[in-house]
Amino acid sequence: MSQKITAQIERTGGKTEIQVLLDAFHHFEANARRLEDAYNKMQADFSRVNIELDRKNKLLSHILHSLTDAVVAVNTSGEITSFNRGAEILTGFKSEDVLGKNYSEILGKEIPGDQTLLHTLETGQHLPPSEKSIIHKEGHPVPVAYSTSLLEDNDGKALGALEVLSDLSEVKQMQEEIQRNKTLAAMGEMSAHVAHEIRNPLGAIAGFTAMLEHDLEKDPPKLDLVKKIINSISRLNKIVSNLLIYTRPLSLQSCEVDICTQINQVLDFISIGMVNAEKIVFSRAFPPHPVVLRIDPEKIEQVLINLVQNAAQAIPDQGAITVTVTAKQSEGREKLYLNGIRTDRIVVVEIADTGLGIKKEHIEKLFFPFFTTKATEGTGLGLSIVKKIMELHNGEIKVLSTEGQGSIFSLHFPG
Ligand SMILES: Nc1ncnc2c1ncn2[C@@H]1O[C@H](COP(=O)(O)OP(=O)(O)OP(=O)(O)O)[C@@H](O)[C@H]1O
Ligand SMILES: [Mg+2]
Repeated sequence: MSQKITAQIERTGGKTEIQVLLDAFHHFEANARRLEDAYNKMQADFSRVNIELDRKNKLLSHILHSLTDAVVAVNTSGEITSFNRGAEILTGFKSEDVLGKNYSEILGKEIPGDQTLLHTLETGQHLPPSEKSIIHKEGHPVPVAYSTSLLEDNDGKALGALEVLSDLSEVKQMQEEIQRNKTLAAMGEMSAHVAHEIRNPLGAIAGFTAMLEHDLEKDPPKLDLVKKIINSISRLNKIVSNLLIYTRPLSLQSCEVDICTQINQVLDFISIGMVNAEKIVFSRAFPPHPVVLRIDPEKIEQVLINLVQNAAQAIPDQGAITVTVTAKQSEGREKLYLNGIRTDRIVVVEIADTGLGIKKEHIEKLFFPFFTTKATEGTGLGLSIVKKIMELHNGEIKVLSTEGQGSIFSLHFPG
């Protein structure tokens, strides 16, 4: 062995150069395999994290879209980056039309700057829950409750801002309705008071006039005048009594009643006292079995009398009044609704007449208190009282009429 080769073998610990290279290669190969395994594992972890992230993102965006509240987010430049379904419904804008647009163009119109999301973006201050009006895409104002907050990353760096808004239209409507009802109740209380005050002296006047009528029996010209006073007193008395019925808070004394029997009683009783009864043909069309309803019989009697009287008064000469009772039962999966409330059965009582009918322009005024077309004998409170009683029974009253042919008033009872 030459001196040079001997020195090399010594440097490699007694191994030949090839053996050293082979060892290094094996070492490298093992490390490369380990690295490859680690890389594969890292890739598997990475795709698992990606799937998880994707799933979480989808869940979050699903939650955001399912929220009934409107949620709007902007970036640091004030451009809209998120606009959920609630925001679309509230504003009328589609998310694809507003994403990337400036907040002030969409939700900032006609709103003081310190009530907008941009205020939070500029000052970093959250706006606590409060109320304002935004402008809908179609130009009308929408009252909303809103609050804002700043979006920050873990280091407190601003990423944008977020606003949550909810529609107050229905709440405002309800508040107005309550206010209207309060005013009506106050007016009702006042009219009831006035009516009550009138009734007492009216009783006294009626009493004295009756005595006068008796004294003047043998003096026909004066008796005629007294009869006129008596007629006026009875008209005043009717107005006062109806006013008291209309304005007084009513409560129901309900029990189970066969509505067909009750209609028969009312028709028998009413046709006796009616002036033109002999010129009217009364017919009834009832189911063969009793139709039992839970109602206040006295109040429903009042409803039937008012409607039959109106029908008779609408018949100038000869005609017919037909009262029909039908019951509709929900079948299988069919749902019946009355006044938005689900019910298993609806009973309909129709009072149809062949009278003068109702002018189109009068139809919507029929149930207004004091609306009457009758020159002398009407107070215009009959149908208002009917409506009030039907509402207390959770029922409805509907009207169909053709001028010159007649009218059909139908009472709809639940259950
Ligand atoms: N069946 C009907 N046919 C035609 N018009 C009707 C009929 N029922 C009601 N009306 C119209 O509706 C108006 C209001 O009726 P409502 O019963 O409230 O008052 P009224 O009959 O005028 O007075 P009151 O009932 O106090 O005697 C009537 O004046 C009449 O013009
Ligand atoms: Mg009437």
